[in-house]
Amino acid sequence: MKDRIKETEVRAFSDIKAVVGQREALEALRIKYLGRKGEIAELFKGISSVATEDKAEVGRLLNELKVSVTSAIEGSLLSSSNKTLSSKNRIDVTLPGIPARLGKLHPITQTIDRISDIFIGLGFRVVEGPEIETEHYNFEALNIPLEHPSRDAFDTFYLESLGGKNLLRSHTSPVQARFMEKNKPPFSIIVPGKVYRPDATDASHSFMFHQVEGLCVGKEIHFSDLKGCLETFAKEMFGSSTKMRLRPSFFPFTEPSAEVDISCIICGGAAGEKRCSVCGGKGWLEILGAGMVNPKVFEKVGYDPRKLTGFAFGMGVERIAMLKYGINDIRMFYENDERFLRQF
Ligand code: DAH
Repeated sequence: MKDRIKETEVRAFSDIKAVVGQREALEALRIKYLGRKGEIAELFKGISSVATEDKAEVGRLLNELKVSVTSAIEGSLLSSSNKTLSSKNRIDVTLPGIPARLGKLHPITQTIDRISDIFIGLGFRVVEGPEIETEHYNFEALNIPLEHPSRDAFDTFYLESLGGKNLLRSHTSPVQARFMEKNKPPFSIIVPGKVYRPDATDASHSFMFHQVEGLCVGKEIHFSDLKGCLETFAKEMFGSSTKMRLRPSFFPFTEPSAEVDISCIICGGAAGEKRCSVCGGKGWLEILGAGMVNPKVFEKVGYDPRKLTGFAFGMGVERIAMLKYGINDIRMFYENDERFLRQF
């Protein structure tokens, strides 16, 4: 038995040496010697007929044979993978690695996240709605009358393929009605998302941009709640010295409505002799529209306006990001220029 083991070892080594670097031949040898029905397995079977006092030693020798043949084949396979590469392409393990370039969130995503964080801190939760809307949710549910300019085909992307009654939403406000139909007050939500308008592209217009809508409904929600919420937002977003003012305005879905301005983040509202290039010397920057939910909007979703009140607001994310980071051209956000994107 010991002779057979020795003989197998010598033969296996000379077989392996003869095919160094040849993958397939080495695999064949692995099966021949180490396979389940290979020569070494057969030798193991022979242990039963070895004299009892020799069994331990024969077992040890066989195990050693198995290990040495396995490592000889593996070693030979390794040298085969290096040999098949020409010396020019051989791997130089001393070369420094290629640094992995990590991506990051787009400045618009970062701004949406920041806005969301602030409102989540005020008890709001984030919901979303569809970008393809019906005329009903985009207009009617929001009390926007038929003669309103935004309902004109020139001002909105209608989708002919979907019967012409569907459109790319022109604001995130339709999600107000969608949410109210399915939920009971009290609640506070914000709705970030893309909106679409067929505006000619220039430094401050894009056919697609982002908005964050807000809606808070319950009993005894007052205009002062709206003001407090938005003031907190403005200070968190633009710094604690930021001042806010409300100007009377009109939106069909809120009554009363307001345009919300913050003190200019560049000149701080100190409209001095030098005309500030950001606020044009006015000292104030418009950042969003807001108001108390129009009772007609409540009625359309089956809420009782005598029992419930609420406030709503809508802001353009690009505008907020441009003010916060001092960006003067909206097109920068969409050009995918890494020199721009890397700065945020
Ligand atoms: N939907 C308006 C727009 O796109 C923005 C807006 C104004 C939303 C006032 C509101 C609001 O919820 O109360 O111009």
